[in-house]
Amino acid sequence: MTDIDTLEDLFEHELAALYYVETELIDVLDELALESRNDEIKEAFADHREETREHATRLEDAFRAIGASSHSERSATLDGLAADRQRVVEATDDPDLVDSHSVAIGRRIEAVEIEQYESLLRMADELDYDEDVTDPLEETLDEEEDAKQKLSAIGEESRFGKLLAKLR
Ligand SMILES: [Fe+2]
Ligand SMILES: [Fe+2]
Repeated sequence: MTDIDTLEDLFEHELAALYYVETELIDVLDELALESRNDEIKEAFADHREETREHATRLEDAFRAIGASSHSERSATLDGLAADRQRVVEATDDPDLVDSHSVAIGRRIEAVEIEQYESLLRMADELDYDEDVTDPLEETLDEEEDAKQKLSAIGEESRFGKLLAKLR
């Protein structure tokens, strides 16, 4: 890792951490789609996987806009979430529980991405970066929020959601 001495350096570092997340997520979302049994959940992950390819491309545009080449910085947050997911899949034979966890982990991933995009946009604002940098970030942030919303709606309809509703 290179030194981080200025806010510009920090922005580039955070952009690279997010590039790691987006490129890794292409495979993680594919696994989530394969592991989930419910068709709606499967489809939500498969659709968002295609959007995620575009997210990675938009980050390449943002790198270009700040005059840097695209690169990744490993993110322990995403690695941890993927490991948490794996432990649950290995610990249960119940497909409904796997599906409940798919929704939970999917929402958690989107929440992390949303926070990362918001942080980058706050820094970009402070740095006075122009639209070449901020437009691709804003466009993706909207899609992350939609994806989180969609997973929440599916989660509420699931068996787990109904059970919870009865308990309230
Ligand atoms: Fe994304
Ligand atoms: Fe996402």
